Amino acid sequence: MKLLGKVAVITGAGQGIGAATAKKFAEEGAKLVLADLNEQNLMNRAEEIRKADGEAIYVVCNVADRNEVGQLFEEALVKYGHVDIVINNAGIVQDAQLTNMTESQWDNVIDVNLKGVFNVGQNAAKVMKDQGEGVILNASSVVGIYGNFGQSNYAAAKWGVNGMTKTWAKELGKYGIRVNAIAPGFIETDMTSALPDKVKDIMKAKSPLNQMGRPEDIAGYAFLASNEARFITGAILSIDGGLVI
Ligand code: NAI
Repeated sequence: MKLLGKVAVITGAGQGIGAATAKKFAEEGAKLVLADLNEQNLMNRAEEIRKADGEAIYVVCNVADRNEVGQLFEEALVKYGHVDIVINNAGIVQDAQLTNMTESQWDNVIDVNLKGVFNVGQNAAKVMKDQGEGVILNASSVVGIYGNFGQSNYAAAKWGVNGMTKTWAKELGKYGIRVNAIAPGFIETDMTSALPDKVKDIMKAKSPLNQMGRPEDIAGYAFLASNEARFITGAILSIDGGLVI
């Protein structure tokens, strides 16, 4: 088990990539603090993990709200006394082409995908600095490297996540904290389910593997949270089936 005894806070853990990450991390021996807006999904995920002999609590938390994020870390510390791994995974899309994008579409995506990552990262860094160790993993996207039609807000946020990842790696390395990002390609979750089949077929055809990824394919980044990756920091790891080479 790569993560035995480690405490991991995972945002957006109710479904999709966050839920698959939680399952994988529990299998690797981590004790989990699951955070999401959706309480029912959180209850279900925590129950599944406990049934499989894992350990998990959950906290309903909007990552865009600084007070709620502060509360999340307080609850994690009360329960477990330390936080070793933080997965900054919660994210949303509200797509529109540049000339049609509304202010609220811009603000909502920036609030969750950029400010939310800052809120969680800042709390994580404070706890981990005191501990003298820790790992922060941020969910970026292939869109944060190459841009995407109809996603000015999302691309800006994910580009920002890449920038914060590298900045935090530089600032926090001396405290024993590693910071990396993953950049998934097109993964079969609710986030992509609304895409027309035509678009999905184009995306599949762009991958040399000729398929979309599954949430479990992303969860393989568990090694980045473990000591196996002790010399990896400031990296943005593409997990995209070769979508862009
Ligand atoms: P999803 O839509 O299936 O799940 C996102 C989860 O985040 C949901 O459980 C939702 O309730 C939660 N959430 C949304 N806003 C929140 C908030 N303000 N506070 C707390 N929780 C919140 O999405 P998916 O596909 O699992 O995406 C996870 C991450 O991976 C996101 O950051 C996304 O941008 C990124 N990603 C996803 C890709 C894909 O193709 N599905 C590709 C590249 C990146």
